[in-house]
Amino acid sequence: MRADLLSDTVTRPGVAMREAMATAVVGDDVFGEDPTVRELEDRVAGLLGHEAGLFTPTGSMANQLGVRLHVKPGEELVGDSLAHVLRAELGAAAILSGISSRTWVSQRGRFRADDAASLMITGVGPYQVCTALVIVENTHNFGGGTIQPLEEIQRARQLTRERGVAMHLDGARLWNAHVATGVPLDAYGREFDTVSVCLSKGLGAPVGSVLVGSREAMAEARVWRKRFGGGMRQAGILAAAGLWALDHHIDRLSLDHGRARRAAEAMAAAVPGSVDLSTVETNIVIVDVAVAGWSGADFVAAALARGVRTYAVGPGAVRLVWHLEVDDDATDHAVEVLTALLAEGPAASVSA
Ligand SMILES: Cc1ncc(COP(=O)(O)O)c(C=O)c1O
Repeated sequence: MRADLLSDTVTRPGVAMREAMATAVVGDDVFGEDPTVRELEDRVAGLLGHEAGLFTPTGSMANQLGVRLHVKPGEELVGDSLAHVLRAELGAAAILSGISSRTWVSQRGRFRADDAASLMITGVGPYQVCTALVIVENTHNFGGGTIQPLEEIQRARQLTRERGVAMHLDGARLWNAHVATGVPLDAYGREFDTVSVCLSKGLGAPVGSVLVGSREAMAEARVWRKRFGGGMRQAGILAAAGLWALDHHIDRLSLDHGRARRAAEAMAAAVPGSVDLSTVETNIVIVDVAVAGWSGADFVAAALARGVRTYAVGPGAVRLVWHLEVDDDATDHAVEVLTALLAEGPAASVSA
């Protein structure tokens, strides 16, 4: 028995998704001739309450296109210090677009309009860097699947609009926020100038993200996508997987959320202090392995040796992510292995 809780990106397409890919009607998308890509772009734009969409190979590219649209070289974006755009896109905004950034420190990635407002600087002419963009991530990956409060987003929207600052949503896991809260996707989407969503996380497609925004913004993003090397040809083969995922894999995210919660409750009961249940909101659980004397890296190695793959997100913190390849049995196995390791502590495991 194995359980792969490394990330919701590890899923492999099933037979039905592969069939949809194999039979997709395709064309050259750089010439705008791929009907399946068009269908996906229109569908996602509609779901998120925007005029147009653009299919991209990755979430990072969709985010970087969003950033590029709103921020000129020499201006800045602001976001929280754990945001994927700032922490895990390897300096892309600076390297590809000449954009600087500043961050606020959040509680597990939770977005507060006041944090964004405290950093925004506008109308300072040639003396200071001007803030052009606020980034919000929903759900928040390194924060542990944190759902962003719609009221805070709406308040930020008002504050940024008054100051002429744009807002981009990194919605790689917006599907999870939608399923967990029942807030319609477009209620989140309409608060932002651009939104990126991933098809390759919880939705289980092998490749692909979509950026949405105004028709004009997406026409400009299409130019930048080509410039960034993301103009794809018969990409309908990939878009077909995304369409299939939209039809079949959104509602089932509640299963991932339920299993994550069940596992978190079992671990918290077995080893008090290991999981703060108030932080388990979607498909991600952060385990405080330091309470049992473990370092994150050693715990990950020990769990892997017993068939459970996890990821260290801090010196004493390990992330577990549920997805469509972790069923009830794999969840039970993971709980058994991880609680045993926490109870044993590192010394027992080394000598075992
Ligand atoms: C919140 C968030 N945004 C963006 C991305 C980037 O997606 P990709 O790996 O497709 O570039 C990820 C990837 O894990 C993510 O977690």
